[in-house]
Order: sequence, then structure tokens, then C-alpha cells
Amino acid sequence: MLTVAVLISGTGSNLRALLDAAADPEYPAQIVVVGADREAEGFAHAEEYGIPSFMVPWAQFGSREEWGAELGRQLAVWRPDLVVLSGLMRLLPAPLVDEWSPRIINTHPAYLPEFPGAHGVRDALAAGVEQTGASVIIVDNGVDSGPILAQERVPVLPGDDEHTLHDRLKPVERRLVIDVVRRIANGELDLDAASAGAAAASTAADGDASRSPAS
Ligand code: GRF
Repeated sequence: MLTVAVLISGTGSNLRALLDAAADPEYPAQIVVVGADREAEGFAHAEEYGIPSFMVPWAQFGSREEWGAELGRQLAVWRPDLVVLSGLMRLLPAPLVDEWSPRIINTHPAYLPEFPGAHGVRDALAAGVEQTGASVIIVDNGVDSGPILAQERVPVLPGDDEHTLHDRLKPVERRLVIDVVRRIANGELDLDAASAGAAAASTAADGDASRSPAS
């Protein structure tokens, strides 16, 4: 059974979906703890399921590094096999990412590498694209730049605003993250291999670029 820590900042609807999935005895992963950087509404889902939770309030720390160090100490208590960032609206400091990656994944409401960052839905609307999407990635030290584990296109409909589009994207994010966690737990998806494969591909691309006439 794969043990999972889920980190949130908000309503935790994606967390809720993971908890519901994990309630099925056939699901090969178990949520062992829920953490947040603030008094998040989503804690209610953890409470309902009797899952322990912890808060590392961003506002109480002087720097990202200090906040991240405490988050790392909390995670070390639970020693999960995997950390899922599910709407955690903070960048993690590099030492924490280095410690956990590739065993740390993130859901994102855009078709990465399109529209990374905190406003993926708003940015897609502002760009006037006809379709955006949802992605699940391995967290690295960039902003939503890690290896892509799963993604799916979602159309932008006439009259969409940030709210309606995000509401249509979230169920796709949920389906993707539930499936990715299942595949990691089953051994169908090897995070070390996914991470190494992406690194090799990027080195090859760099090599190509250095041979291109433009360089
Ligand atoms: C999700 O779209 C997540 O990708 C984004 O914030 C949203 C979290 O929603 N970063 P919820 O808290 O799970 O409802």
C-alpha cells in the first residue's frame, strides 16, 4: 500500500476525490496525512475521514526556507511514500524539493508547459486559446516545469470565465491524479524512470540546440 501525504491551501476538492478513491479497498494507496500552509477549508475532508492533519502557517515564518524546513520536519514525521501537492499555493524551497523529488507530484489546471504558475486558468482565458487542459507533473525546482506524468485537453467554451473554466478543469485534474497515484502504487509508473527520462530528453534537446545554426 502506497502511503501518501496531500498538501493543500484551499477547498481541497481534489483532496476529497483522492480520499473518496482511497476509501475503495481495491485502491492501492492510502492518504496518511493532510497538510496545509493555512487554515484551509479542505481540512474538513481529512477530519471527516479521520485522517490526521497538520498546518505550517506561512505567515508565521520569516522566509520560504524556514517555512519549508518546518514543512519538511512535519513530512518526516509521517514518512509518506509520495507527496501530492493538490492546490498548495506556495512554491517549495529547493532543499525540500531536492529531498522529495521525484516522489512529489503536483496537479495543475492547464496543459503544461502552457500556462504555468498560480493563474493557469486566468492566463489561458487571457490568451484567448480554444483549449487548455489539466496536468499532473513531478515537482522540480522550476515553476510547474517538472516531467509530465499525465495530461488531458479541455475546451474553452464561449462565455467561460475563470470560475466556470476552472470548475470544468478540476474534475479532469481529479481523474488524472487519482489514476497517476494508482499507477505509481501499482508499479506501472516509475517516478525515478520518468524523472531520469525527462532529464535525458532535455539533455538531448540541449545538444540539438547547440548544433543548430541559430546557436
Ligand atoms: C486545483 O485546480 C489545483 O490544480 C490548483 O488549485 C486548485 C485546487 O482546488 N492549483 P481544490 O482546493 O482541490 O478545490
